[in-house]
Amino acid sequence: MTRTGKVTVVGAGFYGSTTAQRLAEYDIFDEVVLTDIVEGKPEGLALDMNQSRPIEGFETKLTGQTTGPAGEGYEVIAGSGIVVITAGLPRKPGMSRMDLIGVNAKIVRSVAEQVVKQAPDAVVIVVSNPLDEMTALAAKVTGFPAHQVMGQAGMLDTARFTYFVAERLGVPVGSVRTLTLGSHGDTMVPVPSACSVDGKPLTGLLGAGDIEALVQRTRDGGAEIVGLLKTGSAYYAPSAAAARMARAVAEDTGAVLPVCAWVDGQYGISGVYLGVEAEIGRVGVRRVVERDLTESELAALRQAAEAVRAKQGDVATL
Ligand code: NAI
Ligand code: 2OP
Repeated sequence: MTRTGKVTVVGAGFYGSTTAQRLAEYDIFDEVVLTDIVEGKPEGLALDMNQSRPIEGFETKLTGQTTGPAGEGYEVIAGSGIVVITAGLPRKPGMSRMDLIGVNAKIVRSVAEQVVKQAPDAVVIVVSNPLDEMTALAAKVTGFPAHQVMGQAGMLDTARFTYFVAERLGVPVGSVRTLTLGSHGDTMVPVPSACSVDGKPLTGLLGAGDIEALVQRTRDGGAEIVGLLKTGSAYYAPSAAAARMARAVAEDTGAVLPVCAWVDGQYGISGVYLGVEAEIGRVGVRRVVERDLTESELAALRQAAEAVRAKQGDVATL
């Protein structure tokens, strides 16, 4: 098997560490680098993960590196083709993702500054919350072309929607197709017209009230888990989503995935990072893919765009 390239995960918390492990277990990279500001944490986790290699049978090497406030240690990410930014605080019960904006903006800004210096060719995948705003901030601070920076949210929200539909109908998750667009927040836009089970439209299988209940549970999907966990937020499904995005970049697959991407005219929306479907490859976002939406879905997407546009404008000053 040919292994190639280096991928970095910044932030060795629950999201970052599970993402690093998934990326390493793909066994397609030479090296997965994991960094954090907590002394010894990334080194310890990388050592533990390396010791899982003989059991799981993968050769990708994991490197852990503590980084300092002036960027000490960041040399380790040089040559990365992909950087996944998970650094930042997660929500506590009762908090919205937006409550994290001030503190996480400072963290994401400091990480992005180091990415420019050490890995200027990397495709950046942001996951820190509030997601749409942190993605816009990373793009602004790096100054990278818009296609080189994207955020992870739509894959997670879509997976949640798919799971809820499968659970409600008692069918395998593999037979269900769903989609969410818009923001990773209150203006998330689940798209029932794009949902099917074994190729049959969801709207023919469930009544409008049932679908609306699943849509609402999807919108509240992150908060439901935060409420159960009491400390911290979800990371198994989120890390699966970010790792799959990174893999699509590494393998230049052209997969069409729901991601937070720069929208420039599609759906009549311009100049904003927003959850849309996009073709993902080595350059990051190859192109945004537009689909037919119902009138109400399109209106909701445009409303989401205006809501995040306002916040994304403010974020540059944080
Ligand atoms: P966590 O608290 O387990 O880990 C965060 C890590 O970031 C900690 O280890 C911390 O030391 C580190 N960190 C803080 N400042 C740093 C810096 N300047 N450089 C490097 N590392 C730094 O939190 P978790 O669960 O890993 O979540 C991380 C972020 O991902 C949160 O903002 C959370 O809201 C977000 N998230 C986003 C999702 C999405 O779908 N986009 C889904 C789930 C979580
Ligand atoms: C989630 O949706 C908190 O954004 C995080 O699980």
